[in-house]
Amino acid sequence: MTDAPLWSGRFAKPPAPEAEALGRSLGFDVRLAPQDVEASVAHARALEDAGLVTSDEAGQLEKALREVGDAIADGTFAFHPADEDVHSAIERGVTERLGDLGAKLHAGRSRNDLVMTDLRLWLLAAASRIDEGIVRAIRALVVHAREHAETVMPGTTHARLAQPVTLGHHLLAHAWALLRDRERLAQWSARTSVSPLGAGALGTSTLRLDPARTAERLGFARAFENSIDAVSDRDAVQEFLAVIAICGTHLSRLAADVARFTDESLGWASLDDAYATGSSMMPNKRNPDVAELARAKAGRLLGDLTALTSTLQGLPLGYHRDLQEDKEPAFDGADTLESVLAALAGCVETLTFHPEAMREAALAEGLYATDLAEALVRSGVPFREAHRRVGELLRRLEAEARTVRTLSPDEWANLGLPGGAVLLDGDRAVRARSMPGGPSPESVRAQADAIDRALGAERSAR
Ligand code: ARG
Repeated sequence: MTDAPLWSGRFAKPPAPEAEALGRSLGFDVRLAPQDVEASVAHARALEDAGLVTSDEAGQLEKALREVGDAIADGTFAFHPADEDVHSAIERGVTERLGDLGAKLHAGRSRNDLVMTDLRLWLLAAASRIDEGIVRAIRALVVHAREHAETVMPGTTHARLAQPVTLGHHLLAHAWALLRDRERLAQWSARTSVSPLGAGALGTSTLRLDPARTAERLGFARAFENSIDAVSDRDAVQEFLAVIAICGTHLSRLAADVARFTDESLGWASLDDAYATGSSMMPNKRNPDVAELARAKAGRLLGDLTALTSTLQGLPLGYHRDLQEDKEPAFDGADTLESVLAALAGCVETLTFHPEAMREAALAEGLYATDLAEALVRSGVPFREAHRRVGELLRRLEAEARTVRTLSPDEWANLGLPGGAVLLDGDRAVRARSMPGGPSPESVRAQADAIDRALGAERSAR
């Protein structure tokens, strides 16, 4: 075997080194080697079914493919400077082992259908690892939520004190978002479980291969419906990146909460030493670098989606070499999200919350203003009027440098709320919000049960 490329018959000259360098994808697509071996074994069996190789020959092809795959995995495969990509390297390795028989392997297939087959297999496996990471993060949230179903904390809007909620309710808001990410990933997987193999370069082949049987061998749900679509489209990659970018956004918001809650000026939670970072200069520091990086990586995921989308837009149908640019964003996105999930899940699992600090913050009277207005509503006052009355009360007390807690029984009665002082209580406020989906302890427990049921296993436990 020479250094000549796979198509050298038609060419009088070898490619220029710079042209070769620009086109070489081996540096990153070598990750597809295990998938390329599986797809090639299935293709060898398809050649056997079509009577193009004997069963013994198909067996030899399979053995050689697996040897090459093992050699690549353990680092002993001798790559050639002329190996353009993983597909050509593996085919060369097989041909070097089997001579003429190896040269039969590529009948009826193209790297165009092969590369998409490999990539779909790779992405489906990555999606299942990502799914496990999401489940771990959800379980961490559910464990804390059950423990803090009754922990009152100030809920905020615009990052300003709004109404009392429970910590469990707040944490489960993140969990529900992550559950939807799982759902999106599952729906994407179902759509992506399509085998392109047999589509060839664009128009299938004359060799009477059976794509459905190949799909079945590779564990895909079905084969392609249109060979041009099978080699041209990259929406499976694009949608994968979109789904994981959304998940990354959710994680970034969870991470932002971790950074905020563990800010010592708030003091609502502490980071475990294993998930905190020190400063090279300031001995006092325990920084939330894990949370900050998890927050920042969402931008990178969006970058991966943007890079691929800009490559695809306006590209006419059929394979173009532009499509080779799908793999780096796909790998980068999957790697990024996997590492964020693992670190952030560990960080959340090991958080220690400080209910007393939250309770104390929830003493702020402003948090109960809406409850006062709603108490008036229950006694028949129209809401707008109730809102105005409470607003005026707060304005007057502020001018008098007084607090709501100093109101006398008579003043409460004048306000239309005899005995209203009891309303200034966090436990009461969250229990009073007893409707499903609300912050009450019973709602938090019901949500945690529902999430555990959705995860389809026993109760989330440490
Ligand atoms: N390395 C290429 C890719 O990743 C394989 C397909 C090459 N096909 C071609 N017609 N040049 O897309």
